[in-house]
Amino acid sequence: MLERFRKDFPVLENNPGLTYLDSAASTQKPAVVLEKTDRFYRFDYANIHRGIYRLSERATASYEAARKRIAEFIGAAAPESIVYTRNATESLNLIAATMGEQAVQKGDEIVVTVMEHHANFVPWQQLAAKKGAILKVVGLDRETLELDMTALESAVTGKTRFICCTMASNVLGTTPDMAEVTKLAKKSGALTVFDAAQFVPHHKLDISTFDPDFLVLSGHKMLALDGFGILYGKPEHLAAMPPYMTGGDMIENVTIKKTTYAEPPQKFEAGTPFMGGAVSLHAAIDYLENIGFDRIQAHETRLAKLADEKFRALGKVKLYRKPDRIHNGILPFNVEGVHPHDVATILGDMDICVRAGHHCAQPLIRFMDEMAMVRASFYIYNTEEDVDRLIAGVKKTLEVFHK
Ligand code: ALA
Repeated sequence: MLERFRKDFPVLENNPGLTYLDSAASTQKPAVVLEKTDRFYRFDYANIHRGIYRLSERATASYEAARKRIAEFIGAAAPESIVYTRNATESLNLIAATMGEQAVQKGDEIVVTVMEHHANFVPWQQLAAKKGAILKVVGLDRETLELDMTALESAVTGKTRFICCTMASNVLGTTPDMAEVTKLAKKSGALTVFDAAQFVPHHKLDISTFDPDFLVLSGHKMLALDGFGILYGKPEHLAAMPPYMTGGDMIENVTIKKTTYAEPPQKFEAGTPFMGGAVSLHAAIDYLENIGFDRIQAHETRLAKLADEKFRALGKVKLYRKPDRIHNGILPFNVEGVHPHDVATILGDMDICVRAGHHCAQPLIRFMDEMAMVRASFYIYNTEEDVDRLIAGVKKTLEVFHK
């Protein structure tokens, strides 16, 4: 029996004919997240860490309670290791611009995978270019489309300063073995940077099982508001890193001659932050954990596999993943002889939302010998009707282009 979560999501209830299959780009927000965030602004809002009055103290308490909840959620021992940012992209840029600047010198090496989102690729590419370091790009096994661990092993040397790796590809859904990646990094003395943005909406994450140096995620991909992200850093790294931005709330003492900085995480949170974002992520975590990640995965995987099966029966649809390797609700495909943007346009006209293009992962699209792909990404609010509507949309595309 398929579970029904669609009713929890106002956007979907307010658009009865809508099939939303673009959750890898951004997820919809359940009513409970919107209500709890709204409540914060109606009852408890003031600037945090500044006011010596009860309203500000309540705002600070909500803001810091979220940090504690997020730390527990990812298995981080200390809430102070959770830094609030605008999104995963900002978190990654922060690491490259601070720890990256300090740790990478001429002739050093940075290892990334070919399936990184541009957010975990371009900052490292730019840092390598600036420092005269070498960027090594590890590919996938062409048969399984899993990370090529043998290639990774030979890429990592004593000169490797960072291994930067996604925990779930936003194009293929591929989920590398984090423990293995971390083991290689520890052997070589490299720091690990994991992009968990596409992983955390679907899995229970426990960083104590693989001990990353850095890990990032984005609230909007896991039912929270957009514009709020997380950087996890090991306490000793955060303590050693210089600030990314300077200004209010991140200082200890400012004189005309000199400024000293607050301890982490405040050192990295200059300016008035997005308090509602923190409250929304707290509520989203409660909602997701209340459902349970086993149920979430079972639901979305069943739908993605059903769509895959129906595409195979239809023919003329190029599928990239073997059915038993469909993960994280992500189903990339192409329709033979039809440009992905034309597919997405026809689907869009039928109110079926998918993404088409390079998915902010051009090195991967090139590795796959494609110009672009269509991606249907399933999540808890999708239904069997959504699968049927997707198949009907692709059938219509075939009728239009294969007359
Ligand atoms: N990273 C987002 C995606 O995969 C925007 O679509």
